[in-house]
Amino acid sequence: MNKLIDNFGREISYLRVSITDRCNYRCIYCQSEKEFEFIPHQEILRFEEIVEIVQEAVNLGITKVRITGGEPLVREGIVNFIKQLRKIDRLEDISLTTNAFFLSEYAEKLKEAGLNRVNISLDSLQEEKYKKITRGGSLGKALKGISSALKAGLLPIKINTVLIRGINDDEVEDFVRLTLDRPLNIRFIEFMPSGEEVINEFESKFISVQEIKEKLIKKYLLDPVKISTANGPAKYYQIKGGQGTIGFITALSQHFCKTCNRIRLTSEGKLRPCLFSNTEVNIKQAIRKLARGKSEGFLRKKIIRDKLKEAVRLKPEGHKLNIKNQENLSFHMSRIGG
Ligand code: GTP
Ligand code: 5AD
Ligand code: SF4
Repeated sequence: MNKLIDNFGREISYLRVSITDRCNYRCIYCQSEKEFEFIPHQEILRFEEIVEIVQEAVNLGITKVRITGGEPLVREGIVNFIKQLRKIDRLEDISLTTNAFFLSEYAEKLKEAGLNRVNISLDSLQEEKYKKITRGGSLGKALKGISSALKAGLLPIKINTVLIRGINDDEVEDFVRLTLDRPLNIRFIEFMPSGEEVINEFESKFISVQEIKEKLIKKYLLDPVKISTANGPAKYYQIKGGQGTIGFITALSQHFCKTCNRIRLTSEGKLRPCLFSNTEVNIKQAIRKLARGKSEGFLRKKIIRDKLKEAVRLKPEGHKLNIKNQENLSFHMSRIGG
């Protein structure tokens, strides 16, 4: 059986696929308030191209695929796309990260199509603040989306809360309480340096997971727990008797690069070996150069596999960012998908 092993001995089994750079929101830590230039439609990978790439990735040992954006549910044809992915043998886990605005209308259909689970971005439980962070979003729609996902069985559900000092750090306990009577897994994520509005004040807006954890420990007994799909960057805890869990993602303060198991495919068809490195491998260009036809089938597959292997070979050992050093970093979260 083929495996993707990088130069540092890490086995790559997880592919994150951004299917669009478009989003119905413009979160302050992700997008600019100003006019934003989107990737032209013809430059975005077609669903059939993505399915081909995922198929070859699975042939090389990928078992887990996450669909991201922008907002993946704004792309037409998403349900059928998930159906096509589901047909791929040995692809064990298909998940999606969403802001949940459209989730109440899609949850059942996505489950039927074969989606296993969803992660949902939710940065405030206060209507006005939610609107401010997302620049116009609807908390009501997000909460409805969460209920629909629970009902449809898109489990486990993880809630992503990006911590920003002075903006939502006063709500940590409200989020924690959500885990008491519903099987929700709340994850506090350290803010990473992207998004024009907040990046200028990055140092003062950054808040470490350690600081939040220390506050919580004073009030709650947090038991470390494992959850079934937890081979990602979060560490999980539970409050006694609670139905859900509390997770922490130390994106900046403690690098989890040593155990990194993922590569990314951007919406414009580039393989990105590391979120924080601008190195990319243009897989779209390689496959679009080839004609599509029976005789080219074998060659296409080989080229796709070669590009995947190249990306894994180029995977850096880790990032060197910290709260004071974000040099050489230019990344668009919404094109890469986080
Ligand atoms: P699970 O499979 O459910 O554990 O998903 P996940 O945590 O890998 O995915 P999700 O899209 O929910 O991302 C959660 C947070 O982790 C987001 O803020 C991502 O940007 C961040 N994240 C995901 N992968 C990486 C990574 O490789 N490096 C860093 N620094 N952050 C990451
Ligand atoms: N820092 C941390 N997390 C971020 N996300 C988007 N931008 C940032 C950032 N600057 C998160 C979103 C979403 C996930 C895919 O990435 O909250 O849940
Ligand atoms: Fe859209 Fe997610 Fe970026 Fe917010 S963080 S603007 S919801 S892609």
